[in-house]
Amino acid sequence: MSAPRKLHIKSYGCQMNVYDAQRMVDTLAPEGFIETADAADADLVILNTCHIREKASEKVYSELGRLREAKDEAARHGRKVTIAVAGCVAQAEGAEIIRRAPVVDVVVGPQSYHHLPQLLARARQEGRALETEFPEDDKFNFLPAPKPAAIRARGVSSFVTVQEGCDKFCTFCVVPYTRGMETSRPVERIIDDVMRLADNGVREITLIGQNVNAFHGDGPDGTTWSLGRLLHRLAAIPGIARLRYSTSHPRDVDDSLIAAHRDLPEVMPFVHLPVQSGSDRILAAMNRKHTADDYRRVIDRFRSVSEDIAFSSDFIVGFPGETEEDFRATLALVTQIGYAGAYSFKYSPRPGTPAADMQEMVATAVMDERLARLQNLIDSQQSAFNKAAVGRTVDVLFERAARNEGQIVGRTAYLQPAHVMASPDIIGQVLPVRIDSLERYSLLGTIATPAAAARNAPPLTATATTGA
Ligand code: 5AD
Ligand code: SF4
Repeated sequence: MSAPRKLHIKSYGCQMNVYDAQRMVDTLAPEGFIETADAADADLVILNTCHIREKASEKVYSELGRLREAKDEAARHGRKVTIAVAGCVAQAEGAEIIRRAPVVDVVVGPQSYHHLPQLLARARQEGRALETEFPEDDKFNFLPAPKPAAIRARGVSSFVTVQEGCDKFCTFCVVPYTRGMETSRPVERIIDDVMRLADNGVREITLIGQNVNAFHGDGPDGTTWSLGRLLHRLAAIPGIARLRYSTSHPRDVDDSLIAAHRDLPEVMPFVHLPVQSGSDRILAAMNRKHTADDYRRVIDRFRSVSEDIAFSSDFIVGFPGETEEDFRATLALVTQIGYAGAYSFKYSPRPGTPAADMQEMVATAVMDERLARLQNLIDSQQSAFNKAAVGRTVDVLFERAARNEGQIVGRTAYLQPAHVMASPDIIGQVLPVRIDSLERYSLLGTIATPAAAARNAPPLTATATTGA
């Protein structure tokens, strides 16, 4: 048998790319590839790229420059290194990559990575191979299931794609062009995936999709299932302690999703719900099809069923035409909602999107200043939220040994890292932890007995409530 070939994947961008990278590893395992953390050691390097903002695609070209040197160096020692570019930059700029970067052997779009073995063979025969069409066959029907050993090695928390693509066409966003139209996976396939993960020690599942709450998968009963209904079914799978979903759109929050938060202790009370801006004028120019008040009402619906629910969001500053008054409306919304954390970005025009043709660009200095103001506000909310955990007893799902000797690290319901001194036996368990202190972004605590936890569990009310 020939020696295994080594594969290194470098992923940029969102959680879906992290998940896709794992599935690429699973696809290439039967071809004799094993994963290596060291790019210099690899026979095949895949850059799994992101196109969402300008810097993300620039990074790809500078990384390809470095890889060219490594490839040349390996060639001098008689070793052939194959370079592939996958993900959304591959989808959007495949032909350009082939033209600009001769170092690249294979370009594969996000809907085609189940064809990687054939593309590698084609590159060997023909020199290079490119596939960025949206193929007829659905990759999920062809991807091999991960091996039990691979699942166990990946830990107690896992992503599962349930929905992909987006039909919303926000004017700034490339996703509808790179990931294609909205599609949902059939419910039974998702149940099979989650059961296999649970059988191999996974305790937490994050259902992912560009627009995950637009999920409308074919159910086993012949009806179309919503995300809320899917969550109800998955919560019943033995071993699954926690369910999350990301990323949601405010317009697709239906009553079944709210009911899932009300009825299922497995559904974590932490929701990523991007709003992008607090100004109705800018929301309209972004084609979000909702107002700031619509968003506030969605937040209130969640809060009406669960008082300890917390939110995070995404914001864009400096969208074309954004005035100081528009920006202040964003600050006001953030102040009113009170986030546990949020991501904020400077607007960057993406080629091919409607906003890229808008004329009234906001000056870079103004964008920088607005970004700093927004980030200050979000940081102060985040640190207040984290500080509020100190002195409380909260459930932590333990994930792995920490860097510090003897410490085990896990996450709270709000994804805050929490460290305790304990035996590695607790990995995979959800245990009550008394939080003693906060160090930077990490909570430090001690495991509380369940009895102590019951006496000591006030609801988390770190965030302000909206409404009157
Ligand atoms: N410029 C800046 N930020 C963007 N995002 C998406 N497209 C752009 C863009 N053109 C941000 C949005 C989205 C997050 C994933 O990335 O806030 O929610
Ligand atoms: Fe992009 Fe999200 Fe808007 Fe879809 S809903 S176009 S993924 S920002």
